Amino acid sequence: MTNLQFTEKTAIVTGAGRGIGRAIALMLAAHGARVCANDINPASAQKTADAIIEAGGAAMAFHGSADNKMAMQTMFQEVIERWDTVDILVTCAGIEPESSLPEQGEWEWARTFDVNVKATFLCVQIAARVMRELGGGVMVTMSGSPLYPPRKDGYAAVAASKAAVAQFTRDAARELSPFGIRVNGIAPGYIKTPLTEPYRDATGVRWGEPDDVARVAAFLCGDAARFVNGQIIAVDGGQTR
Ligand SMILES: NC(=O)c1ccc[n+]([C@@H]2O[C@H](COP(=O)([O-])OP(=O)(O)OC[C@H]3O[C@@H](n4cnc5c(N)ncnc54)[C@H](O)[C@@H]3O)[C@@H](O)[C@H]2O)c1
Repeated sequence: MTNLQFTEKTAIVTGAGRGIGRAIALMLAAHGARVCANDINPASAQKTADAIIEAGGAAMAFHGSADNKMAMQTMFQEVIERWDTVDILVTCAGIEPESSLPEQGEWEWARTFDVNVKATFLCVQIAARVMRELGGGVMVTMSGSPLYPPRKDGYAAVAASKAAVAQFTRDAARELSPFGIRVNGIAPGYIKTPLTEPYRDATGVRWGEPDDVARVAAFLCGDAARFVNGQIIAVDGGQTR
């Protein structure tokens, strides 16, 4: 039995307009999944959905902020109306504040936690309700590792938010496993995406591609990972050995 077979499966990917989320959306679709590509940027969400459809897959775009409960509820409703099910959730929406720590406004800390942590909670919660009804499902979150070297000034807020996502992921996995729902996290290393463009010249760093993360996400979503639950998998080329 091949692992990467998502025919008749429906996936929602947040932050799917570019970078890691887009790569995961395309990867899942390439292996048969119907994909809802969510992004706060409507044009980029649509671009991802269009790319899937052009390649012969099934996709829809959903414009909305992943930390907006109403929007996310509507997204799940629209996906179920269209495809009857949600089998896979991947939460990729994430941001990094631009200012350094001494300059950082309280709102930047709050926004970072809203998009990185609250959005993960909201989407996992809505998916949990849906998947509990449907008899199971799989979720993958985007976490981080405290072992990575500091990325840039102002990154402490992101590091703190990603530590919260990691702990949330482990506990969500424990609570949701009786319903046949698996929840794992990926801690990407330094990945070449538009987000990391400003510090691409960082020294002592190994850079990976979005597809390096997408392949692991697809594995975690598939049956070959059916006994993998509550784990945070580092995808970093060995940076944190
Ligand atoms: N690239 C890396 O090196 C790296 C490392 C560790 C973790 N991550 C995490 O992986 C995830 C994806 O990162 P990336 O590098 O692809 O970033 P990216 O900025 O290239 O892509 C993120 C996407 O999320 C969208 N987004 C932002 N806020 C949103 C919101 N509120 N609602 C919906 N969509 C929203 C953006 O429009 C963008 O399309 C993030 O959670 C990030 O923290 C990335």
